[in-house]
Amino acid sequence: MSNVSIKSPREIELMRRASEVTVATLMEVDAMIRPGITTEDINRFVHADTLQRGARPAPLNYHGFPKSVCTSVNEVVCHGIPSEKQVLQPGDIINVDVTSVVEGYYGDTSVTFYVGEPSPEAKHVTEVARRSLDLGIATVREGSRLGDIGAAIQEFAEKEGCSVVRAFVGHGIGRIFHEAPQVSHVGQSGSGMRLRAGMCFTIEPMINLGTYEVDVLDDKWTAVTRDGALSAQFEHTLVVTKKGCEILTQRPRALANSERFSDYWPKAV
Ligand code: MF3
Ligand code: CO
Ligand code: CO
Repeated sequence: MSNVSIKSPREIELMRRASEVTVATLMEVDAMIRPGITTEDINRFVHADTLQRGARPAPLNYHGFPKSVCTSVNEVVCHGIPSEKQVLQPGDIINVDVTSVVEGYYGDTSVTFYVGEPSPEAKHVTEVARRSLDLGIATVREGSRLGDIGAAIQEFAEKEGCSVVRAFVGHGIGRIFHEAPQVSHVGQSGSGMRLRAGMCFTIEPMINLGTYEVDVLDDKWTAVTRDGALSAQFEHTLVVTKKGCEILTQRPRALANSERFSDYWPKAV
């Protein structure tokens, strides 16, 4: 017996609604990304937009996190704290991680945006992260195993000359922001817990250009690459189904400041 909850159809509907809010907000963040804005501008927008949609921004006061969204620029791996002092520069990459709560249920999704034109290095790590998430998701169905997800991600990312962060993992999600299971982004296929229809969790690989090792800054939140090299991340919330999964945080169209620069993403903006 595992301690991973199976969500009812009613619960999944509420998670769909929470996830829809995160997607709508993230689509609007896409429209505001440009050199010269601050990460606090993004925080203010996400906070107000989430409330306007009848939801609550989950990061605010979560274990003391001081803002309503995580904004992780360049060598920041995750949990970057928005700041009025942090002005986006041309060539930066920034992950914006939005988590919203609707009627007690959570939706959690993030993307990495390009600020202006990306450098070849920025584009490489970001596109490897984008594809890593897709490859992890592609393994998910009733009866597949947790280790299949990490194996698919690790095999691809390392083949592309990148590393996969170990210190942070995807997570079960529902009425609780972070619940069982832990979803490692490295692993061995055929290992780990078997997935069952109705399980809900995130996959959110953090992919580095250099070492996978991270340090957490004195603010107790900001996680940075130990070698200062670039890091990128994408995250979806999903529910396991018999034949595969439903991506609860699927976007309705491509992002102007992310997928428009992707060589493999097929959709027009
Ligand atoms: N959204 C992050 C995740 O994907 C968690 C952020 S916790 C916070 O799990 F406190 F930093 F907001
Ligand atoms: Co998450
Ligand atoms: Co998140």
